[in-house]
Amino acid sequence: MITSVPVAYEEFMSYLDKVFTINENDIKVMIKEFHSEMQKGLSGYESSLKMIPSFVDRPEGSERGKFIALDLGGTNFRVLAVELDGNGGSSVLAVSKFVIKHECMTGTGKQLFNFIADSIETFLSDNEIDRTKIYDLAFTFSFPVEQTNVAAGTLIQWTKGFTAEGVVGEDVIVLLNEALRSKNINCIRVAALANDTVGTLVAKAYQDKNCDVGVILGTGSNACYPEKLTNISKWRGVRKKGSMIINMEWGNFCHLRRNCYDIDLDEESNNPGYQYLEKIVSGMYLGEITRRIVYDLVHRGLMFSGPNARRIFARKESIETKDMSLIQSDTTTNLGEIEEFLTELGITKITLLDKKLLKKICSLVSTRAARVAAAAISAVLSWLDPELKDEHTVGIDGSLFEKYPDFSNTMSEVFKMLFNEKAKNIKMELAKDGSGKGAAIIAAVAASSE
Ligand code: BGC
Repeated sequence: MITSVPVAYEEFMSYLDKVFTINENDIKVMIKEFHSEMQKGLSGYESSLKMIPSFVDRPEGSERGKFIALDLGGTNFRVLAVELDGNGGSSVLAVSKFVIKHECMTGTGKQLFNFIADSIETFLSDNEIDRTKIYDLAFTFSFPVEQTNVAAGTLIQWTKGFTAEGVVGEDVIVLLNEALRSKNINCIRVAALANDTVGTLVAKAYQDKNCDVGVILGTGSNACYPEKLTNISKWRGVRKKGSMIINMEWGNFCHLRRNCYDIDLDEESNNPGYQYLEKIVSGMYLGEITRRIVYDLVHRGLMFSGPNARRIFARKESIETKDMSLIQSDTTTNLGEIEEFLTELGITKITLLDKKLLKKICSLVSTRAARVAAAAISAVLSWLDPELKDEHTVGIDGSLFEKYPDFSNTMSEVFKMLFNEKAKNIKMELAKDGSGKGAAIIAAVAASSE
């Protein structure tokens, strides 16, 4: 609690509290809406949840071999060589990380796919890979893709700041193959295309049979789970029995109470009108929501009264989600780490109250994110198992879950609030590098079923 503050602060903070708090009732309403959107998406009706069939089911745990995996979806592009031992174990033999330049994300598709092929070339050379052999490759492409089979799919829309022209509506595997051929890389056969959530679920389920939800809480946010084919009424495939993992694309879920900061952020984003849940939950946006609140307070004369604060906080992304993480972990009495961060940013006049307010704002924004993420997971679990009778492992990858202070504790509290005793049936587990290892497993399954 912030004490001895003028009324204006208190009024403003209680306003913020009101617009950022998600209570139990909000969560229950959200879960109902989620189920209704899931149903619509599975039936092929217009829905904010696309519910995309992945053409993959959970693995047996016995898949084996060496595979190459590509991982595109955030600020870095990764190429990995992964080995599966056939006993639920997997290891990354080599990995190279390439920073994706802004002009590759926002230029043309050709530029982006050429960059991908060049990076693969570097990986092959650096690791002295024998090019007389053919390697099965899985492409983790973490954007909404309408898959037509396990190794084909067209991009529906870009998210997370990517806008590369000429890719939406195209089959990304065709674009990848074209780029590989144009660079004379002939030792690779693209065996599978996968979303990162699917890779995460598959990687976790390879070791743990109870894993039935894969979640990403990182730069973007999304989830997948296995659905009975009989429940996917839009499914036109030959196979009618069994189940298939559904990429929900939950980042686009739209039945959420949004406040003025969310609305402004959306309007100024690359994809206005889309990805409402992602814009409330994911790492790409939390810092920017916080920055907008701080700027509002500065503008109203309620925070950082120094001369340069307005100019500094007027700059988009002057606060990033990783800064919020640092701010919230500062437990020193005089909040020295927050002071250091602000000084580096160029803020000259900093009071203890400013620092406390900043910490409180970060906590409001991140707590809401964690509660909405937990609500979305609860919606998936209660869809799969309404009484929560069985044990469920939720495999989660992403820096918010892994690193953000208290994020996972806040999520667990929501499970306890909703499911009481039965919340113990939910086990959230970090699925580090799920998108690399999982992609290899998918490639193994795809290659063996040919
Ligand atoms: C994409 C998803 C992806 C998620 C996490 C979202 O922006 O639409 O396909 O799974 O980010 O990377």
